Amino acid sequence: MQPNEWLSRSYSDLLEELKEFLRFSSVSAQPQYKSELYATAQWLKGYLEKLGFVVQLIGEPPVVHGYYESSGEAPTVLFYGHYDVQPPEPLELWVSPPFSPRIADDSIYARGACDDKGQVFIHLAAWKYFVEAYGKLPVSIHVVIEGQEETGSETLYQVLAAHGMQWRSDVVVVSDTGFFSEDIPTLTIGLRGIVYGEIVVQGPSRDLHSGSFGGVAPNPAFGLSSILAALKGPDQRVCIPGFYERVRPISSAERQLWRSLPADEAHYIRLMGAPAVVGEVGFSPLERIGSRPSLDINGMYSGYTGEGSKTIIPAQAVAKVSMRLVPDQDPTEIWQLFKSYVESVTPPGFSVEVRLLHDPAPAFETPTESPYYQAAEKAIQEAFGKRPVPIREGGSIPVLSALQKSIGGAPVILMGFGLPTDAVHSPNEHFRLSQLRKGIHAAIRFYEQAALVRSSSAF
Ligand code: BES
Ligand code: ZN
Repeated sequence: MQPNEWLSRSYSDLLEELKEFLRFSSVSAQPQYKSELYATAQWLKGYLEKLGFVVQLIGEPPVVHGYYESSGEAPTVLFYGHYDVQPPEPLELWVSPPFSPRIADDSIYARGACDDKGQVFIHLAAWKYFVEAYGKLPVSIHVVIEGQEETGSETLYQVLAAHGMQWRSDVVVVSDTGFFSEDIPTLTIGLRGIVYGEIVVQGPSRDLHSGSFGGVAPNPAFGLSSILAALKGPDQRVCIPGFYERVRPISSAERQLWRSLPADEAHYIRLMGAPAVVGEVGFSPLERIGSRPSLDINGMYSGYTGEGSKTIIPAQAVAKVSMRLVPDQDPTEIWQLFKSYVESVTPPGFSVEVRLLHDPAPAFETPTESPYYQAAEKAIQEAFGKRPVPIREGGSIPVLSALQKSIGGAPVILMGFGLPTDAVHSPNEHFRLSQLRKGIHAAIRFYEQAALVRSSSAF
């Protein structure tokens, strides 16, 4: 049976199953959702077992591992995804509740609809197709779906150290990235790394009356502001000495390729809903996102932020700061440079603590020469009608480098189907149903094509 025929028949059942998956509030950042994470992992286990996988839940929150052994010479594909989601707040901005999936405008709305449950579901559905159409899968599969991607993958790092070698595979496939736009299918060939830390500036030992002490007390909100202001210059470049030292120049082939995409400033202004694009002079927006490092403040707080006024000089000010890294920056070195620079620009009158919030992760790149990359190209071409453009994305999947290493170094294929308008990490996250449907078609074709690559000639 052809994928499209099966999809037409199975579509409404598949949507119901996806809704079940999306109803779990599997938020990894907040401790009160622990049992929901476990329930989501159980649901995945049940789904995979019905397809014939041997499944175990490992660690806390569980890493779901499933194995399906196909016959003979077939290569082994490792699928990686995550079932945890970002916190849904601010709730009042959602048109419908984040864990009550709703279908409207050819999209399914829910937290995790795109990142990453909807995209994990694409593969569950593709495997279901093979089981229903042929009674078996064309390749052997290790499936690894974790519940902590959005918070640093702590459990998976441990699980990989213990089990990674038993999960050796010929190729890794991940659907946790996106297309450039709906009519420009994309294969991601690079992701940025990330270093994420917190700056805590301490002034007085407690909040003080701002009348009695204003004029003599060192105000940590000002202390923090001057530190933050020293991080970037008016030219938008990061001022940390050595920050750009190892950054690999952009090749002329890449510059050429990306010039052909309709990625001008107006495109990003529309996507962001902001009045202007900012960034380093001399680089296009696409280059700034994919090939240049960046530094951002992800949150900051100090003093009284409730309603009305309170006349205090705060004791503390905190900022959460992350840096997105590109090849060949070294994340540990960047952290050290950041830490010493922040300490050196802290004004007198304050003490500063700079602490790491996640394991630093390097940028990640995928080869385009492997036969599995060609398999993905063919699959996308067939399902979406156009040859995919290789692109570097600015987001991170920090655990990928460790995952790749621990399973034997196989090439990774980043075959994601999200759209830049899907509102991932934002209120009203959604996933376009046409992307879901064509994504399932593409995934089916990918596994079929992968089956034709002899496992010995893989890499
Ligand atoms: N799906 C994203 C990664 C992503 C985002 C890829 C945008 C391509 C474009 C993933 O779930 C994610 O959000 N990762 C985090 C990692 C962080 C929490 C350490 C990220 O990039 O912020
Ligand atoms: Zn995410």
